[in-house]
Amino acid sequence: MSDEYILVCVAWPYANADIHQGNVTGSYLPADIYGRFHRLQHNHVLMVSGSDSHGTPVTVKAEELGKSVEEVFGYYHDRFLQLFQKMGLCYDLFTHTDTENHFQVSQDIFLSLLENEYLYRKVTQQMYSPITQKFLPDRYVEGTCPKCGYTRARGDQCDNCNTLFESAAELINPHSKIDGNALELRDTEHFFLDLPAIAEDGLQAWLHDEDKAHWRSQVINFARNFVDQGLIGRAVTRDMDWGIPVPVEGSNGKVLYVWFEAVIGYLSAAIEWAKNNGTPDAWRSWWQNPAARTVYFIGKDNIPFHTVMWPAQLMGAKGLYSDDKTAHLNLPYDVPANEFMNMEGRKISGSMNWGVWMLDALERHDPDPMRYYLTAVMPESRDSDFTWQGYVERNNTELVNNWGNLVNRVLNMTKRYFKGIVPDPGELTAKDHELLTAVDEGFETVRQLYDGCKFRAVAQENLRLSTLVNQYLEETSPWTTAKTDMQATARSLYTAVQAISGLKILWAPILPFTSQQVHEMLGEDGQLFGQQKVETYQESRKSHVGLTYDGSTAVGDWTRREIPVGRQLPAPAPLFKRLDDSVVTDELGRLGNPS
Ligand code: MF3
Ligand code: ZN
Repeated sequence: MSDEYILVCVAWPYANADIHQGNVTGSYLPADIYGRFHRLQHNHVLMVSGSDSHGTPVTVKAEELGKSVEEVFGYYHDRFLQLFQKMGLCYDLFTHTDTENHFQVSQDIFLSLLENEYLYRKVTQQMYSPITQKFLPDRYVEGTCPKCGYTRARGDQCDNCNTLFESAAELINPHSKIDGNALELRDTEHFFLDLPAIAEDGLQAWLHDEDKAHWRSQVINFARNFVDQGLIGRAVTRDMDWGIPVPVEGSNGKVLYVWFEAVIGYLSAAIEWAKNNGTPDAWRSWWQNPAARTVYFIGKDNIPFHTVMWPAQLMGAKGLYSDDKTAHLNLPYDVPANEFMNMEGRKISGSMNWGVWMLDALERHDPDPMRYYLTAVMPESRDSDFTWQGYVERNNTELVNNWGNLVNRVLNMTKRYFKGIVPDPGELTAKDHELLTAVDEGFETVRQLYDGCKFRAVAQENLRLSTLVNQYLEETSPWTTAKTDMQATARSLYTAVQAISGLKILWAPILPFTSQQVHEMLGEDGQLFGQQKVETYQESRKSHVGLTYDGSTAVGDWTRREIPVGRQLPAPAPLFKRLDDSVVTDELGRLGNPS
């Protein structure tokens, strides 16, 4: 397998807060593991995402801080770039939604939907501030809950009794959260996406297509249920200033709804990447090639937008960027959404300072042990719990004692008994062959697991294989035979070195930094993966900074490369650090203290 086109679509974080371990485990890390795996397969990987710069989450934050939206968004965007470099998250392009290119593509989709008659206008009522002469999004509206009397209920929900409101008009004494001024209801016209029509014209059939057998059951069941219950039209425009203008005359003061345009980022980022690369049509290989696979890595709260809304937008915008007016761009091949990750038994929360702020945590922890633990407890099929005790234990037992110790002892013995030169094994025994066959078969088993996004199972299988090699060493006992039968010692260490050469590749998508270290300690040249870069773009509205990836120099591939007899190996160094319980005490002490 190679030459496949794989588009790795990663959730776009709102640029209004630092990233915690729940965000990383939910989408960014699994996407990177999947992307790296396909890079090792020499497939054409394009991994795209960016900062979500629009919507009330960002404007509310700016108001809270008394800063401009641009300032807030720029600050967090920059911190995302730092984190992704530190964690080794290899985006081919990490851009943002405040670019000329993204505006253009989003407006193109909107206009295509309009032309295909999947958008209609409808007048609704919305809270309006006569003082500021502006409509207010529900999140900006506060009032008394008609159900429980709580005086600080929001326009869309009461946080005291959890009642959801159809409209902010249900609140008693609605007023602006920003300035406290009284609000009134006024008519406003918006564009609605005709979901019932799109469902009938193909969306429902697509969701029920049998080609979804590889989808996670909780994802496909949710999506089918959602459409089967009957969809209603949804407003895709808002009365706001910050965002992408609605590209229709008479739409002053209206922008595209943030969810409508953020998902379009997957397409616009591919187009931006192609332009920056000097190959402006290259994006078509992922979006118009029926054999390409587009895979979306998101958290479960984003399932409706990626399995129903975004496919509806794509289907409805048929004919866009094509001579074939009936053709639509590729629909999701898979949406391996994760469930939620809690921490120490509680929900992760920014305001409670209950979470691991990854950029901060990587000041104290190496990226691979973090990547490992987050993979080992990834919420693939049910919610999971991050605990610092678990992190320390699994680091010590699985990384240090098992995989790290295997590499260490084999390379140290090679140094001690053979001056670090890969020894000539002579004729291999059945036992040696058996071990190498197990590792080689692992390449097929593990390939399928990576390809199916079963990353917890990958970690289990890799540990099983490394345990096999450790057992092989116990049985062949090269340190004992060194006293009587140096040929046996040579055979055993030679075989173990070859097994490690294979395992380093099986681990590489999850543990890229330490696999590179093993690669070098085996005397191999080059970088397994390409290089991450921070770049400024000229193409965009504001020349902006983003993350890119250059894979042209990468040497990694999905095989167990033979380490030749007679090669002098460089001095080995430990891969992982043993952690003691003070780490747990220290980290727990940082929790729950808002800074
Ligand atoms: N910014 C939104 C969130 O964090 C949307 C993420 S995915 C997108 O939930 F593609 F829709 F942007
Ligand atoms: Zn209430």
